[in-house]
Amino acid sequence: MECKQWLKWLTLAMICPLIAGAPSSMSVRDSSCPKENLTITGGTFVLSKNYSHGSLLTYICPKGYYPTVHSLLCIDEHWISKTGKKKTPECKKITCPNPRVFENGEVIPYKVKYYINDTTTYSCHSDYTFRGSAVRVCKPNGKWNGSTPVCGRDSDHCPDPGVPPGSSRTGNMFNIDDKVTYSCGSPLTLIGSKVRVCQDGGQWSGTEPQCYADFTYDTPEEASEAFSSSLKSNLAVETEEQQGKKITLDQGGKLDIYIAVDASDSIEEKDFYNAKTTIKLLLEKISYYPVSPNYEILMFATDVTPIIKMNNFKRQRPTLSDIFKELDDFTYDKKGDKTGTNIAKVYTDIEESMKIEEFNNATAFRETQHIVILFSDGHANMGGSPKPKVDQIKRHVTKNDPNLEKKLDLYVFGVGDVNQEDVNGLVSQRDQEKYFFKLQDLTEVQQMFEDMIDESTSVGSCGIVWEGLQNKRRAFPWLAKINIARAKGSNCMGSLVTSSYILTAAHCFKDGDSADKITVQLEKDKSYKVKKYVIHPSYNLTAKQDKGIQEYYEFDVALIQLDKPVEISSSLRPICIPCTKETNGALKLSESEGKCKKHEEILMGNELVEAAFTSDMESDHSPKNIKNIIFKLGKNRDACVEDAKKAQGIKVEDAREAVTENFLCSGGIEPKTDDVACKGESGGASYVVKKGRVIQVGIISWGVKDICRGSKKFTSDAVSRDYHSNLFSEKIRSFLKEHLENDRIGNPLTFL
Ligand SMILES: *[C@@H]1O[C@H](CO)[C@@H](O)[C@H](O)[C@H]1NC(C)=O
Ligand SMILES: *[C@@H]1O[C@H](CO)[C@@H](O)[C@H](O)[C@H]1NC(C)=O
Ligand SMILES: *[C@@H]1O[C@H](CO)[C@@H](O)[C@H](O)[C@H]1NC(C)=O
Ligand SMILES: *[C@@H]1O[C@H](CO)[C@@H](O)[C@H](O)[C@H]1NC(C)=O
Ligand SMILES: *[C@@H]1O[C@H](CO)[C@@H](O)[C@H](O)[C@H]1NC(C)=O
Ligand SMILES: *[C@@H]1O[C@H](CO)[C@@H](O)[C@H](O)[C@H]1NC(C)=O
Repeated sequence: MECKQWLKWLTLAMICPLIAGAPSSMSVRDSSCPKENLTITGGTFVLSKNYSHGSLLTYICPKGYYPTVHSLLCIDEHWISKTGKKKTPECKKITCPNPRVFENGEVIPYKVKYYINDTTTYSCHSDYTFRGSAVRVCKPNGKWNGSTPVCGRDSDHCPDPGVPPGSSRTGNMFNIDDKVTYSCGSPLTLIGSKVRVCQDGGQWSGTEPQCYADFTYDTPEEASEAFSSSLKSNLAVETEEQQGKKITLDQGGKLDIYIAVDASDSIEEKDFYNAKTTIKLLLEKISYYPVSPNYEILMFATDVTPIIKMNNFKRQRPTLSDIFKELDDFTYDKKGDKTGTNIAKVYTDIEESMKIEEFNNATAFRETQHIVILFSDGHANMGGSPKPKVDQIKRHVTKNDPNLEKKLDLYVFGVGDVNQEDVNGLVSQRDQEKYFFKLQDLTEVQQMFEDMIDESTSVGSCGIVWEGLQNKRRAFPWLAKINIARAKGSNCMGSLVTSSYILTAAHCFKDGDSADKITVQLEKDKSYKVKKYVIHPSYNLTAKQDKGIQEYYEFDVALIQLDKPVEISSSLRPICIPCTKETNGALKLSESEGKCKKHEEILMGNELVEAAFTSDMESDHSPKNIKNIIFKLGKNRDACVEDAKKAQGIKVEDAREAVTENFLCSGGIEPKTDDVACKGESGGASYVVKKGRVIQVGIISWGVKDICRGSKKFTSDAVSRDYHSNLFSEKIRSFLKEHLENDRIGNPLTFL
């Protein structure tokens, strides 16, 4: 057979030494792939680079159907399937595994095949008791909802473990040490435990097996629930009552997490970027827990590229943002053309690192919890089978001591067109926990991590944004637009600060505006009703008219309470407010460090502070423009404040009469040209980004002049300054505290 036909997804180096190392010469000559015989019955396809070398062809089927071939890659004039199997592409109807394996009862209806939305009901013959879900519906991901129905007798030591749909079981005795063995009907793959043993405690070892078809996936919700409950046992705080006070034990140094991400499938730059975003999301996610794990992060294809190694991590103790920077610096170009998938090498490298750790301190190594998380489609095409390497890691950590078994957690996230059979052998099979997750693509993995945000952990989830994803709103999930219906309608911007409060400017409202005239837009196609609004008690527009200030904007702050709290999601999430416990979490400050002064030091500690605010919204509810500014503090502040005298309606000797300490100042052209606010942007958040989190420090209040009028330009001239209500102002803080800490509808904030 011709060498090329053996090519499995770019296995150049191993199998075809003649052309290995010659990718550049290949791409020079015309090596386009045939255009014939690519169509899929009942579906369509898209091409990443037409018919040229390196193009990825992806098949697409209508809802309720799946493609028998996921994708093809054009390599040197040939379309190659990742699985290596030659199949005629076809869109087939998604089915759920056969539920008729149900024992000692009845399944209605009794059919040959069960398709999406088919409902089944289960009941037991007399003398048997029912457990599980009596009504199950076939879901679009090829799984039945609810849990496996079982008709059992309660006379045995362990409950009847049932027969999950699609499987068959041998073993009908359920007393101590009795064994049951499962298999899945072809072509389904068994995920979970093949063999389960009835244990002393009356529980079965391992996890209930599930039969997955090629097209079966976990939904992000399913995966997030299972992964967080599994992860929680390691990441949750161990607390100890000490003098009536809960002490958080620092687990630093005792939790080593190895993360390996397969970049070989990143045919396109955006997939590569997505893979890095996924790592960031996972790290971010773990950082909400009160543990400080050590990390090793690897990206791999033909070779393994370390982002950070375990021993370096322990020596350098990088912050999360240091790691993010390393990730950012690892660019698509550096990945090269090496698109093999060497999973064995990854596990080998991880074991090497473990050896170093053990060598450094064997006692500490034994006490450490080791977590290995692999993201891959599992189609290893070089370096041999990864299974023996994983077994080596198992032996290395557990030393064949069953008591040490729980010190190792091996997870795999199968992404895309997954080789599930191989992957199931790479994960831990511990009692009642799921270690293998199969998701459709990286976006679903990200969705899953986002779903994992656990409101019960003390640390809130304010200021988390995700940039670079298709949904631009996710980068500004707190952005709000406020409409007030009156003769001369009015628009302002605002920011979601809790699940039921919007922070904005007081001057957006006029006497007589009632709550029912106000609507708030946050997400697309949705507007929110308002319960009430409150203005800062010291706001008084006319307070200084006798001092030559026609309109006086000190304490230009208001809060709008929504009728109902919003449901927090990736495109709807509050911005952080300084001097709160939630922001302590965002800034990764411990309880003792986390003081309001510390927040000010971190966020506003320089004489020039880079910040930003946003313009009005686009139709997708992301901002039209992001405006970059520099707050002038310290010795730079006076000149900025002084220009207030140039505003219309202000005739004062001392500009500080108009711009008190309760304002922040931006604008002007020094040290660089700032952007300025335009009409309709009042009330918007001015914010600083720290440690990857967005923290609001000001509210857009007023400006020296309206630069934007009549032009699309919004860059400052020498004297066009903007003044922002300063959230570090004592009187503004106490106003926020009064209302946000006593939020009875949504999640209240805790102020420091
Ligand atoms: C397309 O399929 C037909 C029928 O199987 C075959 O005769 C023909 O050679 C194929 N064309 C290409 C370019 O593979
Ligand atoms: C694909 O081919 C079409 C027409 O030949 C061309 O217009 C288009 O730019 C090509 N696209 C890519 C991604 O190369
Ligand atoms: C299943 O039912 C839901 C809700 O009725 C519907 O939106 C969906 O299109 C159905 N799916 C299929 C494949 O029929
Ligand atoms: C499964 O879904 C159906 C329809 O959505 C619902 O009626 C049923 O209660 C669900 N079963 C479980 C156990 O969640
Ligand atoms: C090794 O680790 C143990 C437990 O974590 C610690 O008590 C001991 O001091 C460490 N030994 C060295 C040489 O660092
Ligand atoms: C605003 O200030 C003016 C001037 O000091 C005062 O007369 C007026 O009562 C104030 N208004 C409110 C609502 O406090």
